[in-house]
Amino acid sequence: MANQTSPLTDDIRKRVADIPGFVRWNNYKNSDYHVEVWMRFWTKVFTGARAPVLDYGCGPAWCGFVGQHFGHTVTNLDIETEIRHVDPTAYFGYFHEILGQTQDLWDGKQMPYEDNTFGAVVAKASLSKLVNSTWESMVAELVRVTQPGGRWFVAPPYMITRLKKATGVSQLKAKDIKIVSWDWGWKDPRNTDAYYTSRQALGARSGLVVIKPCSDSMILICRGKSVDKLATADLDGYGCCALVNEWVNLIDSPDIQRALAGREFIHYINRMRTARLGPKAYRGLEVKRIQLNQTQEDLTGNPNIKKLTKHKLPVVYMEDAMKEWATSWDPDKQAAGFPSTGAMAVVHAVKILGIRRLAVFGMDFFEGDYFSHHSHRKTSKVQDYQKKKNVGMKDYIHDIIKTSPDTEFVFHTYSDMDSLSNLEVR
Ligand SMILES: C[S@@+](CC[C@H](N)C(=O)[O-])C[C@H]1O[C@@H](n2cnc3c(N)ncnc32)[C@H](O)[C@@H]1O
Repeated sequence: MANQTSPLTDDIRKRVADIPGFVRWNNYKNSDYHVEVWMRFWTKVFTGARAPVLDYGCGPAWCGFVGQHFGHTVTNLDIETEIRHVDPTAYFGYFHEILGQTQDLWDGKQMPYEDNTFGAVVAKASLSKLVNSTWESMVAELVRVTQPGGRWFVAPPYMITRLKKATGVSQLKAKDIKIVSWDWGWKDPRNTDAYYTSRQALGARSGLVVIKPCSDSMILICRGKSVDKLATADLDGYGCCALVNEWVNLIDSPDIQRALAGREFIHYINRMRTARLGPKAYRGLEVKRIQLNQTQEDLTGNPNIKKLTKHKLPVVYMEDAMKEWATSWDPDKQAAGFPSTGAMAVVHAVKILGIRRLAVFGMDFFEGDYFSHHSHRKTSKVQDYQKKKNVGMKDYIHDIIKTSPDTEFVFHTYSDMDSLSNLEVR
């Protein structure tokens, strides 16, 4: 993550507190609170989503102010009302001046953007406001300006229930737009710990897949020999547990159960049938995310993936941002194939999900039986192409560790690894 410090200066804090005559917007004067909420949004909720971003119903535009600080391009949109023409500073104009934000206005019928302009839409406390507009015009327009496969970040979560009731979600589904629901602790204005909805039923009932953000510490388990180190490892303090590929027959083992217990479950899979679990198992484990290592385009028509999407499981195709990391793999090593699902899972966890503490098990780079006893080929002999791949993959992982100074890595492995300041090898 780029700059984690607050963009709020004493000058901005003071000028916001001095905004005259805003009794009605009293709540918005608490600049520290709003900046904290939006910092959490941009670092914990938004990770891995697409650009550019539309803030629908931007109000004071704190979202854009903080987003800009994190390097995002945010377009602020609000509704056109008469008062804005009479007094352009009314209704948040002062905030925009102080925060250096501009806003677009729409008339409640048509938004001033081309089709498919935005990769993501943020709507905090604004979806159901509907001044001068209707559910129908709002949903139709937001769908029109969102790119296929885009994301809507809607808060608080009950706005999704209202949306569903008002217009249904077929328009969103037709463009494969997914909703991430989030919340910001509005019941307690000093509760800066944005929390995420646990309404499991939201996705299932609406037919939409709700992909919830995950915690920022992860245990990542590949199928190498060093999985045996799980038995004695200290697993305290990790929020989620990710498995890579084939675990169907081993998921009930005590070590894996201990790693999964009480943690958010993420499954990194490739397109093979053997990689995935069944829908029932995923439901039982309350899977948070089934992450693929190929794009939606690459996987069109793949029956194994269809089986998962049919059951409305939270399948996430490889994101554009991840594609860049996957192909940053040294071209000289391309001959040895694409990075393995395990290597890509490490990269995805850190670069896309924003994991800051990562414990890796079972990644032995073929030096310690990695990929041998468990491959779908069912051969225990390490193949030549695997040896070649090993060299490139190990360099690739080292590069990722070096370029991720904000993440602490612990590799439980039988491989030798370089000595790096943010890497511990056990
Ligand atoms: C409660 S405020 C939330 C502001 C901002 N999203 C935040 O969380 O700080 C609701 C916002 O929705 C806007 N709004 C109301 N009706 C709207 C509409 N039809 N289209 C876009 N924005 C609308 C209001 O002008 C206001 O800025």
